[in-house]
Amino acid sequence: GLLVVTGCGQQEATTWSKIQNKGKLVVGMDAAYRPFEYHNQNDKIVGFDVDMLQAVADQLGVKLVIKDTAWDGIIPGLKAKKYDVIASAMTITEQREKAVDFSNPYFNAGQVVAVLDSNNTIKSVDDLTGKVVGVQLGTTGDLKVSKMEGIKKIKRYGKIPQAFIELQNGRLDAVVNDLPVTAAYIMKKPNVKIVGEPFTSEQYGIAIREADDKLTKKVNAAIKKIKENGTYDKIYNKWFK
Ligand code: ARG
Repeated sequence: GLLVVTGCGQQEATTWSKIQNKGKLVVGMDAAYRPFEYHNQNDKIVGFDVDMLQAVADQLGVKLVIKDTAWDGIIPGLKAKKYDVIASAMTITEQREKAVDFSNPYFNAGQVVAVLDSNNTIKSVDDLTGKVVGVQLGTTGDLKVSKMEGIKKIKRYGKIPQAFIELQNGRLDAVVNDLPVTAAYIMKKPNVKIVGEPFTSEQYGIAIREADDKLTKKVNAAIKKIKENGTYDKIYNKWFK
């Protein structure tokens, strides 16, 4: 009779081969984080990360599909295979490295303190003692502030724009958040200011499931190419110049 050779055919298809078969890369992001990912006036999700991931998808030869996802639970969502990768201004941290893999870094950002322009008492991160501070739940800003002593109250929001609204309303003394996002907010609301210098140094990476080494390699090669061929600079200048 016929000898049926099994073996590699029985292996579960890798995420990379599935991406190739579907012809699309599905990206999870919390699209309330201008200028990295946000809904524009036409309700289209745009931003630095969107352009960056479009360039990655182009390099991989597939289409880009975006899934707007709450930040809280975004890593469990990746593990549950709701998307192939996360690109959401996500800082590469030791703690997250325990749950997922990261691409090589693609952006530097640090935490800053923002207050109302009329505030003359908070001049840096050292002046948060006794203050009410707003952060986005589960971010590196949340982590940092949670480790500080003497803060009166930490208010954690699902999305960072909510924290800025509360600052405007006078229900917060300060917001701690990534510099480029806070700076973009201030361009629209000039009655808010950044005080002091960035007090962390962080790098954003694309998060990928730990089993997907092949995909991580492909994404890293794409990032390298995008940096070499001028695409990265173009995207950077579009959003930050
Ligand atoms: N960089 C910070 C972190 O990784 C904040 C990221 C928030 N991103 C977002 N799309 N809301 O914790």
